[in-house]
Amino acid sequence: MLRPNKLSNNNFLSSLDISTDEVFHILELAKNFKNKKIDIYQHNKVLGLIFDKSSTRTRVSFQVAMSRLGGTTIDLNPTTSQIGRGESIKDTARVLSRYCDAIAIRTFNHSDLEEYAKWSTKPVINALTDLEHPCQALADFLTIQEEFFDFKDVVLTFIGDGNNVANSLILCGALLGVEVRVACPKGYEPSSLVIKKAYQIYKNKNLLKITNDPNTAVLGANVLYTDVWSSMGEENQKEEKDKFFNGFTLDNDLVSKANKDAIILHCLPAYRSKEITDEVFESKKNRIFEQAENRLHAQQALLSCLLS
Ligand code: CP
Ligand code: NVA
Repeated sequence: MLRPNKLSNNNFLSSLDISTDEVFHILELAKNFKNKKIDIYQHNKVLGLIFDKSSTRTRVSFQVAMSRLGGTTIDLNPTTSQIGRGESIKDTARVLSRYCDAIAIRTFNHSDLEEYAKWSTKPVINALTDLEHPCQALADFLTIQEEFFDFKDVVLTFIGDGNNVANSLILCGALLGVEVRVACPKGYEPSSLVIKKAYQIYKNKNLLKITNDPNTAVLGANVLYTDVWSSMGEENQKEEKDKFFNGFTLDNDLVSKANKDAIILHCLPAYRSKEITDEVFESKKNRIFEQAENRLHAQQALLSCLLS
């Protein structure tokens, strides 16, 4: 029976904290959890959840994943814990790692997450930062693998803001050798450091394309992915930012230019009529709710490895 392997890295802060083999291992475990083919338990283990931003999917899927593993979670609401009063990350991390077996953190600055990881003696998991959303990318590639089996034939086009979700898709896509294209307005490209790291992993530079033209980016694509134009923390830029995204709505016109078998992904929550039309969101091509479900299976697999 498939068993979780210990990962080479103690933390999961970035898509690049795991190797290609480890991504495949996590995806395989996730499929087995999903199909109820394996029983793996981490009895009485506790995952601490520190969420400085709102969450439905990430929070609930971590809670259910821990419950299925026979463990539990503690919601460390920053406003009612001493974190909200300004207790340092350095002290908080050292205390929490004496109670918890792992900590999942959703916050703004990626450097704060790294500071937690520096002082925690237990695994720290990125539950989303302004820079990356690596747990989301695991669920996304699980959804893609379920549809297309082999990553080598996949062309994934992300249309919209070059944000945390785009950054993790690029990095995880590079590990898996998937062709990733990002179409975004000028000035909203993904992190240049992320692009640089991805190019180092891809042997063939043509497998990552950053463009400002969504119409050419979708040609021959079989995965069309979008996300909000303004992420959490950018609420006050929304109106200003929207103006730059004219032509970047994932609509039937763009979908018709992609491959016939193309599927639609969105990490959610979605703003219909902004980054995606209601028609495309509700179309037969959408795998958005499979993708949301896969958050649970991918994170159960990740936790089973990190807690081993
Ligand atoms: N996709 C995602 O991370 O959703 P939540 O913000 O609801 O966790
Ligand atoms: N880019 C979005 C993703 C939400 C899951 C945000 O950071 O708000």
